[in-house]
Amino acid sequence: ALAQEAVKIGLILPMTGPFASTGKQIDAAVKLFLAREGAVHGGRKLEVILKDDAGNADATRRLAQELVVNDKVAVLAGFGLTPLAMATAQIATQAKVPEIVMAAATASITEASPYIVRTSFTLPQASEPMADWAAKNGIRKVFTVVTDYGPGIDAETSFAGRFKQAGGTVESVRVPLRNPDFAPFLQRVSEAKPDALFVFVPSGVGAQFMKQFVERGLDKAGVKLIGPGDVVDDDILEGIGDVALGTITTHHYSAAHDSPANKEFVAAFQKANAGMRPNFMAVGGYDGMKLVAKALEATKGDSSGDKLIAAMKGASWESVRGPVKIDPETRDIIQNIYVRKTQKVGSELHNVEFETIKDVKDPVKARK
Ligand code: DHB
Repeated sequence: ALAQEAVKIGLILPMTGPFASTGKQIDAAVKLFLAREGAVHGGRKLEVILKDDAGNADATRRLAQELVVNDKVAVLAGFGLTPLAMATAQIATQAKVPEIVMAAATASITEASPYIVRTSFTLPQASEPMADWAAKNGIRKVFTVVTDYGPGIDAETSFAGRFKQAGGTVESVRVPLRNPDFAPFLQRVSEAKPDALFVFVPSGVGAQFMKQFVERGLDKAGVKLIGPGDVVDDDILEGIGDVALGTITTHHYSAAHDSPANKEFVAAFQKANAGMRPNFMAVGGYDGMKLVAKALEATKGDSSGDKLIAAMKGASWESVRGPVKIDPETRDIIQNIYVRKTQKVGSELHNVEFETIKDVKDPVKARK
């Protein structure tokens, strides 16, 4: 490619439909990256082409194909849900175009193509530390409720496996991805009175879950709420309200992460987006752009897929979430996982980090 030609990034996100909050967060973060860190990297200008798949995998596949064939994008990015990332894997492999997964978090995604690199997280990476924390803090009997697809199943099996090893007992229920009803399940929980309820729902769905949790009186029944951080997503935490107080979660990013770089990031994001608080999806999007920029710098502007992927493997930088590195073996992200408690900071609700587990790899692949 000519040195002065733009490097096109096809950004496919759910901008409409039930998972539009993920698209909105990542789109805002990509724009903020370009505004703060510039569009020229390795001598090449980044040009983002945004497409809305509305969370529909057939649309993702068609858009990815068009972006590769018609627009000649050098990179595909986005992928708000696991099925959307999986639907694109074959296209990435055949076209030798890097697929940067900024959101989806089922562990197996990076195994679907050697061209997939992930800047979000994996559910086992976030859920096993939750099992360790629960076992160490007097919790013996846990109910799990997860959304019934890749990330939910990963969250359930990784938490339960680890927690049972530590001597705990687990009962599990799954709810559908589309139009979930938590009420029948919560009734069972209120009868069984476990020490804790472990929850995974995708980003944006937490408010709905919490509403039914309160309606069943479970907040007053002494059932502790635990899980990966998706249920207390920063984007909707203020909307969930005080019922979230005391929830313990393990995750890779909180808007309350205490570092000067994060404070600047949150302030800039809120300023550019009418006060919207960045969540973990925004950080996956921001770092996805950072990764593309770093790779182009390393290749001195060569945007061929194989060169970019080679440069991405082992890349490391200081993210607003803390230090991160792309695992050269798995193309997943190695990062700190924080134990957080939802509490008031001034008048605002935040997930306040109080313990750090450093440099966590995806545990499923680490055991292979
Ligand atoms: C996935 C989607 C989410 O919104 C989330 O919080 C975690 C995982 C997914 O589909 O992989």
